[in-house]
Amino acid sequence: MSHISWNSKGYEKFDEQRAGEYAAIANEVFAPIYPVIAGQILKRCGVNSGLCIDVGCGPANLSLALARLTSLNFCAMDFSPHILGFAQANIDREGLAERVTTIVGDVHRMPFSDGFASLIISRGSMRFWRNRPAAFREMRRVLEPGGKGYVGGGLGSSLLAEEINREMIRRGADWQNKPKPQPRKNDTAEWQEIMAKSGFSKYEVIRDDSGSWVYFEKER
Ligand SMILES: C[S@@+](CC[C@H](N)C(=O)[O-])C[C@H]1O[C@@H](n2cnc3c(N)ncnc32)[C@H](O)[C@@H]1O
Repeated sequence: MSHISWNSKGYEKFDEQRAGEYAAIANEVFAPIYPVIAGQILKRCGVNSGLCIDVGCGPANLSLALARLTSLNFCAMDFSPHILGFAQANIDREGLAERVTTIVGDVHRMPFSDGFASLIISRGSMRFWRNRPAAFREMRRVLEPGGKGYVGGGLGSSLLAEEINREMIRRGADWQNKPKPQPRKNDTAEWQEIMAKSGFSKYEVIRDDSGSWVYFEKER
């Protein structure tokens, strides 16, 4: 498996082969992070019911983990149709097809009506979005008044991150591309600009052991 790369900068929309490779990593290596992150989302957002959109859902592992903790229904959305085949297989295996629906869509122009969702979640996708203000404006449009969002990246905890790094190395991951840990850059001004442009007045940037996330709320 020497082709496994980590956070490759040369990201392209998953084709069939890359989708299969990512789904295997998510299902076999990343598996323990999703229930932890789902718990963090529930604790922060407190949204137990209604409709949740999982943006850049990949194989839908986060939707499925949050479905197990709540009564939410899910639209698991990704702009790669290939990855959604793997998402559907995971959903069917869990017996959650009644509550989790896959849909092709781009965060910059989502296939949902205004005020459609109570909650928006997204892990590991934002770094690929070409226009964050446009993406956040679009998420604000599809959230209902009082709707919440939790978007970013992370592996749940530094302990889980270490375990995953070890397992990826054991599997022969190409660590050439793995970014060196960077000192946290102060991006407060950047986030102020993104959120001002997208119309969110209530938000919080979270940088801790769980990763790098943005929590936001649409006004009532
Ligand atoms: C690293 S994967 C993360 C998948 C999943 N959220 C997880 O945590 O395992 C990033 C996903 O974001 C999707 N993605 C990237 N840009 C997107 C966009 N503009 N709109 C929708 N999905 C996007 C990719 O196709 C890919 O499935």
